[in-house]
Amino acid sequence: MFESLGMAPPDPIFGLTEAFLKDTNPEKVNLSTGVYSDASGKTPVLAAVKKAEERILKKETTKSYKPIQGAPEFGEIVQELLLGSGHEVIVSQRGATAHTPGGTAAIRLVADSVKQLSPSSTIWLSHPTWANHPNIFRSAGLRVRSYSYFDKANNQLDFHKFLHALREIPAGDVVVLHGCCHNPTGLDPDREQWARIASVLTDRKILPLVDLAYQGFGEGLEEDTVGLRELCRPGCEMMICSSFSKNFGLYNERVGALTVLARSQKEAQAVLSHVKVSIRAHYSNPPAHGGTIVTTILHNTKLRSLWEGELRQMRNRINGMRTLFVESMAARGVPRDFSFVREQKGMFSLSGLSKDQVQRLRDKYSIYIVESGRINVSGMTEANMATLCDAIASVL
Ligand SMILES: Cc1ncc(COP(=O)(O)O)c(C=O)c1O
Repeated sequence: MFESLGMAPPDPIFGLTEAFLKDTNPEKVNLSTGVYSDASGKTPVLAAVKKAEERILKKETTKSYKPIQGAPEFGEIVQELLLGSGHEVIVSQRGATAHTPGGTAAIRLVADSVKQLSPSSTIWLSHPTWANHPNIFRSAGLRVRSYSYFDKANNQLDFHKFLHALREIPAGDVVVLHGCCHNPTGLDPDREQWARIASVLTDRKILPLVDLAYQGFGEGLEEDTVGLRELCRPGCEMMICSSFSKNFGLYNERVGALTVLARSQKEAQAVLSHVKVSIRAHYSNPPAHGGTIVTTILHNTKLRSLWEGELRQMRNRINGMRTLFVESMAARGVPRDFSFVREQKGMFSLSGLSKDQVQRLRDKYSIYIVESGRINVSGMTEANMATLCDAIASVL
């Protein structure tokens, strides 16, 4: 069976980090993977996480399986974080949450559910989007198409084209929306634009899938759910895939959630029952540790405020690097205005660097950026900024 098998292509993003690790240049810079780095270039374990783990270790009495959808208190805390306590969805219990191994698994479960419940539905993704989105939906056997999102010439959200594209989508299809900190562009709609998106989706009976992988990295925990909460109108149906990889720094613990919003508690439970069948077939039940960390932190006032402070620090550092980058590029008198980088939200920026420029940055300067020109801003530090900007100025 394996004899004539060639190698599958390496993952375009994880493959770059492998190449970066092998690079012996002491001045190398990694701006590729979507992992937060601090001012010293490290991806730290948050202090709130370490403290929660100490408590968990002391209190833990069993390693027995979690329920298929995870612990009920995890689901409750996820809904509160997404929608705010006392939200109509929470009060009426028309939402159901499953703890998943990362946001990726939540998206895969949505893909399976759509394939099962509405196999002819098409999945609509923004152009551009996170590179794994099309993989996930295609591997579940679904048809994928894209809608306009980005105005490349002006480095802006092309809201007019975006809304127009949404209006053309047939009823019963699924639209994937980045809840905040759009990956890769860093461009999000504002509150008023979200309200207009919500009206189109409701009128056209399109199911929104909100992918919220960076809550707290844009403007704040509450602020980053403004889009989600605008979409969440009375009686709406929705799928929300959230991730704790970035905002809790729990990347390798694989913690995420799938939250289904239906018109009633009964319908939400029915959808969840199908999701549970799918979970059982994929990974049976979720890993416990990361979910317990999240619940422990969010249930404890002191740990929660420590975590919120650490999240604020990550956000502020990224924004500081955005400003420093814009100023450093301007100081080099390059023939391109990078001020748009300061306006973008979250970890990423679509830099506008061409494939050829990205290649030269890697070959000549050991600066690693994904082919699309997407930059992980958190890979920038005060220490590497001059090297980075000199290199970019030279390839421009
Ligand atoms: C837009 C987007 N969605 C979902 C994810 C999934 O994250 P994870 O599976 O690591 O929780 C990521 C991770 O990079 C992402 O960028």
